[in-house]
Amino acid sequence: MELVKLSINGNEVEVPAGTTILKAAQQMGIDIPHLCFEDGLSSVGACRLCVVEVKGARSLVASCAAAVAPGMVVETHSPDVMEARRTILDLLIANHPLDCLTCEKAGECKLADYCYEYGVKESTFKGEKHAYLLETTNPFIVRDMNKCILCGKCVRACDEVTGQNTLDFAYRGFNAKTTTAFEDELVESDCVFCGQCVSVCPTGALTEKQMHGKGRRWEFQRVKTTCPFCGTGCNFDLCVKDGEVIGVSSNPSSVVNGKALCVKGRFGWDFVKNEKRLTTPLVKKDGEFVPASWDEALDLISTRLAGIKEKYGPDSFAALSSARCTNEENYLVQKFTRTVMGTNNVDHCART
Ligand code: FES
Repeated sequence: MELVKLSINGNEVEVPAGTTILKAAQQMGIDIPHLCFEDGLSSVGACRLCVVEVKGARSLVASCAAAVAPGMVVETHSPDVMEARRTILDLLIANHPLDCLTCEKAGECKLADYCYEYGVKESTFKGEKHAYLLETTNPFIVRDMNKCILCGKCVRACDEVTGQNTLDFAYRGFNAKTTTAFEDELVESDCVFCGQCVSVCPTGALTEKQMHGKGRRWEFQRVKTTCPFCGTGCNFDLCVKDGEVIGVSSNPSSVVNGKALCVKGRFGWDFVKNEKRLTTPLVKKDGEFVPASWDEALDLISTRLAGIKEKYGPDSFAALSSARCTNEENYLVQKFTRTVMGTNNVDHCART
């Protein structure tokens, strides 16, 4: 692998050729602000917040889209860079509703975080503001295009991760917006409601409807879990407040799926609150299921299985497992079947 040596903030670093300046800096623990860059998506250099000073370059360089070069000398936080970033943030909030007190994204808004970091309180540019209507007609995603900063991450996520191509840019200049074909509402479009766009949106433009009004982001306890809906085994975080599941958030460290989820995994979690869920074992007595303790149910099962094995032999037993179980649960099913029941009659719905 070809390595490239360069200097960032006075320190030498060696990274593989083709690495962007942003990534090389991250490797050194230097955090360069970025709004339109997202790991796993193509870099388009749209927001310019990641600009850095490169010695010899005629202008500031977007570090998310520029590859390192041998001998490059980079300054990530020089006075010129800081001033440029302040101006970019100033421009970004020029027509952004500053309703942070009630914004659903408060606590997780990258625009607000950077404005705080760079001391940008309000825009010095006065002018027209957008007044788009909120789109709330689907059960999953609320779109507030007044808060869109046109970073285009939703467009790229829909194209490059989901492959659905539901979103794109329309119009130009002040009227530019991300929207669907013919500006249909999501529910009328090709959207499959995977929520990938929501997971990458850096502002309150796209939010999870089910989580609206349920609490602030910093109040949520994040509990990493495995999706129960299919055998893919996607991981995500359950957002829990006061012991109650409020919603689901992508966990980028998930090895199976990264930030990607499908509609069931991201939005189908409310079954956990269904009143019809079984909360205790049921044992059939006189043709009726009646609640029983775990001890009673397990005793009954072991007695019956032992009786069947003794009377008809181990091969009279077979276990069918499910892709909805975790690997660990499926492992236990086959272990039980082979070592306790003494048969290899075990199968799984995802085998074929
Ligand atoms: Fe580099 Fe937006 S993060 S231009």
